[in-house]
Amino acid sequence: MNDLFLRSCRGEAVPRRPVWLMRQAGRYMPEYRAIRAKTDFLSLCKTPDLVAEVTLQPVDFLDVDAAIIFADILLVPEAMGAELRFQAGDGPVFPQPVRRRQDLKHLHVPDVEATLGYVFEGLRRTRKRLENRVPLLGFAGTPWTLAAYVVEGGTSKSFPHLLGWSHRDPAGLAELLDLIAETTIHYLRGQVAAGAQALQLFDTWGGLLSLERWRQIALPPLQRIAEALAGQVPLIYYSNGTGHLLPALAELPVDVLSVDWRLPLSEVRRQVGSDKVLQGNLDPTTLLAPPEVIRQRTLQMIDDGLGGAHIVNLGHGILPMTPVEHAKAFVETVKARTLD
Ligand code: CP3
Repeated sequence: MNDLFLRSCRGEAVPRRPVWLMRQAGRYMPEYRAIRAKTDFLSLCKTPDLVAEVTLQPVDFLDVDAAIIFADILLVPEAMGAELRFQAGDGPVFPQPVRRRQDLKHLHVPDVEATLGYVFEGLRRTRKRLENRVPLLGFAGTPWTLAAYVVEGGTSKSFPHLLGWSHRDPAGLAELLDLIAETTIHYLRGQVAAGAQALQLFDTWGGLLSLERWRQIALPPLQRIAEALAGQVPLIYYSNGTGHLLPALAELPVDVLSVDWRLPLSEVRRQVGSDKVLQGNLDPTTLLAPPEVIRQRTLQMIDDGLGGAHIVNLGHGILPMTPVEHAKAFVETVKARTLD
């Protein structure tokens, strides 16, 4: 197997940097759009054969060093009892948001085999079809980021309902975060049992809180998950807009910190120390530039990250408007840059 990714997760020396892209299976690929033309997004997520097919598309086309199971972070709140819709143009919608302690009675910790077993089956079929070419990642959203969508009822610029609840009734919000954390622990253990070889936690909205409030509110349920999964497979924590949280992130019990592009890797490294592997952090809009600019920025990032173990990725998901040849130029640039 190409084990550059797993070796890098463990901090081992490698002959070149591994590379994969967040949201590497998605609308920028014509092969993905062809499948989506016939199947809505949630049905696609729940059909294991199609999940395996879509997961493999970027492995075949881009030749990346890791596959990530095709699913969505919001499948977990759906399994907990929150109705979920994906409406073209609006993104995800929870028509009955959870905004007060009384609303928690509509949610429960589900039997993950019964409600999310299609993800486990997708992992098993993908592992089989991968034939050990590259490792397969599983993933979940963090309690804070999942709560952001469930409380707000969808996406938002400033998440006023979520933040309002956090000030008005922190203990009530903590109950919601704990319910999500407990479900996520069962879910991620199930993913490992089904063949996930590493796990990534997505904390897209981690940056909404100050350092002090992040430690009080978002960290405890996250810490619970990280501790429950420790020692099984490498654990990656991705967050966005969290440069101010680096002192806390340095202490998280995870192997890899995946960071956005707002700080250079050398500065992140300076703040978190040498224990953590870093992942990231090309600004995804860079992939809209001409290929020679992409090459130059990618090499600059790799050189900036030479001070420690590094898995090359974007700082957030690839944009649907990205030309596929540009994604390919990114991957090829990383692969051509050997480290001897
Ligand atoms: O990385 C991968 O290739 C694996 C698949 C994956 C998806 N979503 C598929 C998807 C992963 C890892 C996610 C994570 C996810 N989902 C996050 C965290 C990462 C991030 O991007 O911040 C979040 C916040 C979500 C929630 C979500 N799902 C939103 C806000 C949207 C709508 C916005 C959009 O991009 O359309 C989705 C839909 C979604 N999830 C799509 C895909 C491929 C597009 C759906 C489509 O095909 O129409």
